[in-house]
Amino acid sequence: MKNVKIVGTGSYLPNNIISNNDLASLVDTSDEWISSRTGIKNRRITTGEGTTDLAVNAAKKAIVSSNINPMDIDLIIVATISPDNFTPSTSCEVQKEIEADNAMCFDINAACSGFIYSLNTAYAYIKTGFAKNALVIGVEVLSRLTDWEDRSSCVLFGDGAGAVVISESEEIGIENFHCKSLGKLSENLKCGGTDLKNPYVSKITDKYIKMNGQEVFKFACSYVPKGIKAVIEESQYEIEDIDYFILHQANERIMDSIAKRLKISKDKFYKNIASYGNTSSASIPIALDEMFDKGILKQGHKIVIAGFGGGLTYGVSLITI
Ligand code: UT7
Repeated sequence: MKNVKIVGTGSYLPNNIISNNDLASLVDTSDEWISSRTGIKNRRITTGEGTTDLAVNAAKKAIVSSNINPMDIDLIIVATISPDNFTPSTSCEVQKEIEADNAMCFDINAACSGFIYSLNTAYAYIKTGFAKNALVIGVEVLSRLTDWEDRSSCVLFGDGAGAVVISESEEIGIENFHCKSLGKLSENLKCGGTDLKNPYVSKITDKYIKMNGQEVFKFACSYVPKGIKAVIEESQYEIEDIDYFILHQANERIMDSIAKRLKISKDKFYKNIASYGNTSSASIPIALDEMFDKGILKQGHKIVIAGFGGGLTYGVSLITI
C-alpha cells in the first residue's frame, strides 16, 4: 500500500486581536487569572468573516504550499463544530470557492479532536485507494458558540483555521493513529443546537458551550499520554525518537502536565496558545503551518500530534515530515 504524506499546510486567523485586558472590560476577570490558569494572552475574534471564509483562506495557502492543482484534489474534509450552516457542509462551500470540482466533500464533528479524526479518515481513503489527494481543514468560529457573559468560558476560545494537503507518496509520512471516544463522559463538554420547536413541542436548547473544566482537564492529562505512548509503541519507536509534540492548544498547564507524565522536556511541546487561545479543531493545523513557516519542522522530523475535547474524544497521530 502507498504511503500518505503531508505535502502542504496553510492557516488563517482573523485580524481582530482581543487581549485578556479587553475581556476584563466585558466580564469579571483579569490578565493575571487568564494567563496563569491557561497561558492565553490574546485570541482572534472574527468581526464578520464566517467559518467558510476562514477555511477558504487556510485552504488557499495550503494549496499554494503543496503546489497542487485544485482539480486534482479528490477529497475535502472539514473538521468543525461551528459551521455557518447545517447544510451545505463547510467542505462543499470550500470546494466551490477553490474550484476543486473533482472532490468528494463532507464535514466531521469531533470537537477539539476533529482535525485528527479528519486526518485519520482522509488517510484511510488514500491508503485504500479511494482518494489520491485530500484537503483536510480544521476551522472554528467558536465566538458564535461562546456565552460572552460567562467568564469561565469566554476567556478561553478563539476563531481560526488551519489546513493540510495530504497525498499518496512513495516516502514515509503519516505513520499511525490512536483515536478513541468516551461518550459516557459527554456531559462534561456540551453545546446545544437549535430549539426543538414544532406544532407539538417547544423545547429550548442551551446554545452556548458549557464545560466542566476540571473534569476535561483530568481526562486530557490521563488519556492523552496513554494515547501518545500507544501510538509510539505501536509504531515501534521510542519516545526519544519524537522531535516535537503538537497538542491541541487548550491549556498550557495541560501540555506541561502531559510532558511531565511522559518525562519529556517541555521544550519539545510547541505552544502558540498565548496568541490564539483555544481554537478547537483548528489549533493543530494552525500550529503545523506556523512551525513550517518558521522553519522549525524539517524533512525527516518525527512528530506526534494529539487532540482532545468534546465527546469526549481524543486522537493521536505519529507523522514523519
Ligand atoms: O478544548 C476542549 C478541551 N478543553 C480543555 O481541555 C479545558 C480543560 N480545563 C481547563 O483548562 C481549566 O479547567 C480551565 C482553564 C477551564 C479552568 O481552570 P481551573 O483552574 O480548573 O479553574 P476553576 O474552574 O476551578 O475555577 C477556579 C476559580 C473559581 O472561583 P472559586 O469558586 O474558587 O471562588 C472560578 O469561579 O476561578 C474562578 N474563575 C475565574 N476567575 C477570574 C473562573 N473563570 C474565571 C475567570 N476570571 N475568567
